[in-house]
Parts: sequence; structure tokens; C-alpha cells
Amino acid sequence: PPNIDPAAIQSHLTQLNTIANSNGGTRRAGSAGFTQSVAYIKGKLQAAGYQVAEQRCTTCTFVSNNLIADWPGGDVNQTIMFGAHLDSVSAGPGINDNGSGSATLLENALQLAANHPTMTKHVRFGWWTDEEQGLNGSEFYVGQLSGAQRTAIKAYYNFDMVASPNGGYFINNINSTQSAPLRDYWQSLNLQPEEDVEGVGRSDDASFSAAGIPSSGYATGASAIKSSAQQRKWGGTANASYDSCYHRSCDTTSNINVTALDRSADGVAITIWKLAVSDTPQND
Ligand code: PHE
Ligand code: ZN
Ligand code: ZN
Ligand code: ZN
Repeated sequence: PPNIDPAAIQSHLTQLNTIANSNGGTRRAGSAGFTQSVAYIKGKLQAAGYQVAEQRCTTCTFVSNNLIADWPGGDVNQTIMFGAHLDSVSAGPGINDNGSGSATLLENALQLAANHPTMTKHVRFGWWTDEEQGLNGSEFYVGQLSGAQRTAIKAYYNFDMVASPNGGYFINNINSTQSAPLRDYWQSLNLQPEEDVEGVGRSDDASFSAAGIPSSGYATGASAIKSSAQQRKWGGTANASYDSCYHRSCDTTSNINVTALDRSADGVAITIWKLAVSDTPQND
């Protein structure tokens, strides 16, 4: 798997922050800042050879589009999905929540294209709208799938807040089969990851789980408080929030833990390669 460069992800985050600054300081679903965020990611994916579609979420509080990108190759009846919500709250630019997950997936998608390995399974990425109003974009996406399309998705991996400044290392459904590649990578770094208790039911993996699709994902924490025991194993500040700028105007490019960002992004690449890429090198 490629070693993802966190500086490349940070450059995407700078673009998202600039988009927010040019549009009243927000990338809220349905706003111009959100539309421009979709256009930024879509343009990069199209240039890299992805098949990209916007899907209008008509049931969303703020009607706006999900962005779906398929990397050509692999058996579509064996699809692995990776997703992140691209919308922010009204109050701020949403760079950790959730530019971090969105840009982590964008850079992984670009590196998959650059490496063009032989695919054993199909890989699809989703950037969701209207998460902040109740997981609405992902719920709409899952709801419009046929039974066969739903069954074809063998696992869904969610990335929401993966660079919290005082963060920890949390995994959704940490003891599940599907979490193994994410878990094994963070364990190999001796990070002693914990179950994502704070995030249960609060991000887009819940839409997939509710439809019977196995899910997992990384998170580094929101407004909940770091314990003394967590401070001892992860560093940072005990008795303080994982992200003190959660849902605030200070959630800017300054609100990013680059170490956590890199550890999250590299775990995504390892998971893509482990689940969907052939060991056999391609000879072109
Ligand atoms: N980040 C989620 C939101 O969009 C909430 C959340 C909290 C998700 C904690 C994961 C972990 O507000
Ligand atoms: Zn890296
Ligand atoms: Zn979020
Ligand atoms: Zn949020």
C-alpha cells in the first residue's frame, strides 16, 4: 500500500477552508460552500479516472448532493465502500469535522488511481451531504439501493473526525471481522485503540449498519473528555475535550492533528489494499 502523505491531505483541507471563508465561513449542506466542496473533490476524481456521480438527496433537510465515485475494476458484486460526510455545521468551516475524513478519502482515492493495481474487489467512495441534520445523505443513498445492490456492498468504512487536536484512537465495531485491517494497523503502531463509544449512532456508518451492511471506521473524538488513562497512552491533555473546536468557527486548518491524520490515512490505504487489491503486481 502507498504511504499516504499527510501534507497532500492538508493541501485539500486548505482548499476546503478557503471555500468556507469565501462563503460566509461555512460548508453547510445546501450552501454555496457545500456545492463548491463537492465540485473540488469531483474535479480531482474525474481527472484521476474515476466514474463520478452526484446524487440529489431529495429527503435531506437542506436538499443537496451526495458524491459517489467508483474506481473502475474489480467485481461490483464484491464492493468495499469508504465514506465521509462532506458537510459542516453552519457555525464553522468543518475542517476536522469533517474535512479530515473527506480529504483522507480523496487522497486515498487519488493514490489508488496513481498506483492502478489489479483489483480483486470493487472500491467505491461516498461523500455524504446533510449528515449534520441527521445522517440524511447516507440514509438516502442506502435507501435507494436495490436489494441486490445492497447485498453487493460487503463492508462500509466511515471516517468522521480523524485529526482531533487532543484526540484518541477509536474504531467503530472494534471487535468485528470487518474492522480487522484498521485495527491491526493501529495495533501495529502500539496505539491500543478503543471502541468508538462517543460516535455510536452519530455518523453515517449507522445508515449502513441499519441496512445490514457490516461497518467500521476510524474516529479520533469530538466533544467528549479525554481521561487520565487515555492521556497516559495517547498523550495530550486529560480532562479536556478531544476537539475543543467541535462545531465551532475555530474548526479551521489550525484544528488538525497531523499525526492522527497520517495514521488514519495510512490505515485506509492498508485496508483498501488488504481487501480489494491483488498481491500479484501489474505488468504495465
Ligand atoms: N462528528 C459527528 C458529527 O458530525 C459526531 C460524532 C461524534 C461522530 C463522535 C463520531 C464520534 O457531529
Ligand atoms: Zn503516511
Ligand atoms: Zn462529523
Ligand atoms: Zn458534526
